[in-house]
Amino acid sequence: MPGHTDWWKKGVFYQIYPRSFLDTTGNGIGDLQGIIEKLDYLNDGTPNSLGIDAIWFSPFFVSPDLDFGYDVADYCAIDSRYGSLQDFDRLLAEAHRRNIRIMLDLVVNHTSNEHSWFKESRSTRDNPKRNWYIWRDGRGPRHKPPNNWKNNFFGPAWTWDEATGQYYLHSFLKEQPDLNWFNPAVREAVHKVIRFWLERGVDGFRLDVAHLYCKDEQFRDNPPFIHRLKQIHRMPFWDRPLAVNIFQLLELPELQDKIYNKHHPETHRILKEFRRIFNEYPGTTSIGEVISENPAVVASYYGASDDELHMNFYFALTQCRWKAGAFRRSVARRESGFPASAWPAYTLSNHDITRAISRYGRKGQEDARARLLALLLLTLRGTPFIYYGEEIGMKEAKLPRSALKDPVGIKWFPFHRGRDGARTPMQWNGGKHAGFTTGEPWLPIGPEAEKRNVAVQEKDPASLLSFYKRAIHLRRSLPALQEGSYTVVTAGVPRDCYVYARELHGVRLAVALNFSKGRRKCDLGPAPACYRVLLSTDPRRKAETVTGPLSLEPLEGCLLQLEAGKRSN
Ligand code: GLC
Repeated sequence: MPGHTDWWKKGVFYQIYPRSFLDTTGNGIGDLQGIIEKLDYLNDGTPNSLGIDAIWFSPFFVSPDLDFGYDVADYCAIDSRYGSLQDFDRLLAEAHRRNIRIMLDLVVNHTSNEHSWFKESRSTRDNPKRNWYIWRDGRGPRHKPPNNWKNNFFGPAWTWDEATGQYYLHSFLKEQPDLNWFNPAVREAVHKVIRFWLERGVDGFRLDVAHLYCKDEQFRDNPPFIHRLKQIHRMPFWDRPLAVNIFQLLELPELQDKIYNKHHPETHRILKEFRRIFNEYPGTTSIGEVISENPAVVASYYGASDDELHMNFYFALTQCRWKAGAFRRSVARRESGFPASAWPAYTLSNHDITRAISRYGRKGQEDARARLLALLLLTLRGTPFIYYGEEIGMKEAKLPRSALKDPVGIKWFPFHRGRDGARTPMQWNGGKHAGFTTGEPWLPIGPEAEKRNVAVQEKDPASLLSFYKRAIHLRRSLPALQEGSYTVVTAGVPRDCYVYARELHGVRLAVALNFSKGRRKCDLGPAPACYRVLLSTDPRRKAETVTGPLSLEPLEGCLLQLEAGKRSN
């Protein structure tokens, strides 16, 4: 799509989980036609629509759906339940017509066990594709697994294949065998996949678990978990919510620090090859799902000379406690721990984690907190990623065990309900099944759909959806928000508030966020100055000019602009 090649730095991304967006066939799962019908909702070129610039689609390729699309059986075909390649081309054209870019999910650490590559690979030991996956003999006379590696869901990373008498490696389910990325033929095959979609006109890729591609070639045993405990809390544990700390502890039964099956140096070479292909198609972008507690490790995936991924998610932001200081410190670690050229990407939620509104839910404060988070997300220095439904305050659903579909929820510890609660159908209206389907939805509708839906909120200028629209459209009109510098303001700011400035070409914006339940006064620095309120999370605040400290209502956040010529120094 023509236009600026760095559009992705300025734009707002929206993640769609296609299965849950809009079903037009009545089979209970979303489809491509449903997405096409809702493109105007996402961006019709006017401030009446949400105004996003790009969509990241979770996978809709052919898949037996053991991990709901993250187990791909054919990378170049659309699963017939979602539509066809023709539908995809139409979706792409319709999106581009509205200046919406399209980013696909590239899930190539592993394939489905139903992919023809794996079927061939497992057929005989001398099949030409045998070495496309990672096969090993068992250890000792009792054929024990080749080493102690665990997968990232639960249980061993090796599964014995009776037919050919060897184990194969899988970082997730046994139905998701890992590709052997040391094999040049695998690289070539994936390059073809990338080119297939770039030739069709897609604008970028999200790279699923990009830090896992290559594993230790000597297949050494991972050391015990205690090693990890020593270095795990680079983010101080008091900055993390209790749930996150407990989650880390839950990994204890795995009793190992997975150092030998992630962040292998060879992975960087693979990403450099990808980048060279992306560069052949100007305007293409990429973002890595790279998971590490260590910012320097995540930073390394941008490449020393900006020659790997264009962006990497900064997941630490999703792990902050509800404390102004926790968010401020987390952003400070991102700002100082990464080279200046490594463009930030922030998100609050995705299909793998509890929805932010529920993660931070306190009775009576959920919506105010959601607004504050929205303002933070849309005003930080970096590209914001919104998860579908976040803009209407969709909550995490507490589903009965019988309704669960996610293998993580079903197979994990009995009290772990997996990720389905964050994947429930988009709530379009207050009608039956929230307007998502005329059939039976694949997952139940989430809570409070009668008020957390698009139709109701579109009519209400004080709704969360209206707030998102205003914030996104303001962001578009303010280059300082898209490209300006970020400086934190601490002088004259109470501990439970977070204030920062964004500046570009003499335009200074200030963002002031009150994380507390009380009224607070914040300096916006450098005092004294005169600021104009551009946006507040509190719909009752009128456009006004502020001199001296800004008074914030409980849980209020404001975006302000320094009035020209009114700065004192
Ligand atoms: C990524 C995806 C997740 C999936 C896993 C295995 O983490 O986000 O949904 O289960 O990879 O592909």
